[in-house]
Amino acid sequence: YLTGFPEPEAVAVLSPHGSAPFTLFVRPRDPEREVWTGERIGVERAGELFGADEVFPIDELEDHLSELLKPASRIYYPIGSGDALEDHIIQTVIAARRTRARSGQGPSGIEDLDALLSPLRLIKDADELSRMRVAADIGVAGHLAAMRRARPGVGEWELRAALEAEFIGAGGRVSFPSIVASGHNATVLHYEENRCRMGSDDLVLIDAGAEWGGYSSDISRTFPVSGRFTRAQRDLYDVVLAAEEAAIVEVRPGALFTTVHEAAVRILAQGMLDLGLLPAGDLDGVIERGEYRQFYLHQTSHWLGLDVHDAGPYQQNGAPITLVPGMVLTIEPGLYIPADEEDVPERFRGIGIRIEDDVAVTEDGGELLTRGVPVDPEKVEEIIRGGE
Ligand code: GLY
Ligand code: MN
Ligand code: MN
Repeated sequence: YLTGFPEPEAVAVLSPHGSAPFTLFVRPRDPEREVWTGERIGVERAGELFGADEVFPIDELEDHLSELLKPASRIYYPIGSGDALEDHIIQTVIAARRTRARSGQGPSGIEDLDALLSPLRLIKDADELSRMRVAADIGVAGHLAAMRRARPGVGEWELRAALEAEFIGAGGRVSFPSIVASGHNATVLHYEENRCRMGSDDLVLIDAGAEWGGYSSDISRTFPVSGRFTRAQRDLYDVVLAAEEAAIVEVRPGALFTTVHEAAVRILAQGMLDLGLLPAGDLDGVIERGEYRQFYLHQTSHWLGLDVHDAGPYQQNGAPITLVPGMVLTIEPGLYIPADEEDVPERFRGIGIRIEDDVAVTEDGGELLTRGVPVDPEKVEEIIRGGE
């Protein structure tokens, strides 16, 4: 296996089952550069720290690489890095083509290392799950802090500051740019400007998560700035919450990934019909024809882990993946009614709602990691009204 980074700071050459030495190339110590960019591990310390058999300075990579790759039958590399290393590897394979006939040695192909590694990231072990629980707890603390800070006239940026102070104070950081979207801004799925003041009748949608120990959380809540939902806001909120609960119930080993989404869509689409967002019609037709997409245009779940939208396939051999214990996914249904949508009752226009939690698949169901932030509308109102 061979992994590196564009403009690599380090390159590791490993072989399956340790059949060849684990060779590491790193930047050497350089006191003058280190004054500017921080301490380097250096050649002397890297071996013990990373368990490498031999360590060389990174500028000697070219000199050693051909020799190291010679006995390999295949090279595993994250194809598409587009760096000089990738070029070198391709040249090595081409050169081996000429000599293999006589020497019987040399790599005959390149395999995509990412394709090999990303399925491994799907199932989290106990250590990974415990890190994800910490990331979730920090995310929860951030959301609660932001909810307590909410009042009419306060800026979206101030809620962002409250969120992120918790993340950073706990030794974490944001796992993606925090979204604090009040009023119509909530109908913009990736609103990151966070520069409006919140109006007294506004809902505010917060979508933010913490990264800790390398792992991410991803939480959304939507609440009334005043501490009281209007009737229209509550009608929509109840539909989204029911959709989330219906999707969560589907999380268990053996369930298909797509079942979770379908459960949420069914409730959302029924809600759209009941509330007059869609013209009266039959539920199955609304789902089959995709009419619900007018107000719910994203998926319900994504994998969560080292990345917030984590690596890992959603399909295998053309079929949706089956959930197994250790997988972690988000459940995040929403409803987004554009402000200028004339074909819906006026009271719903300009409202955006998303509720998002993180769920780990267990032996017999799902473990909700992020419900430390309430979703029950009355509890939510209580927290807001409790103030700071
Ligand atoms: N914050 C991005 C997402 O919820 O997927
Ligand atoms: Mn998400
Ligand atoms: Mn999110």
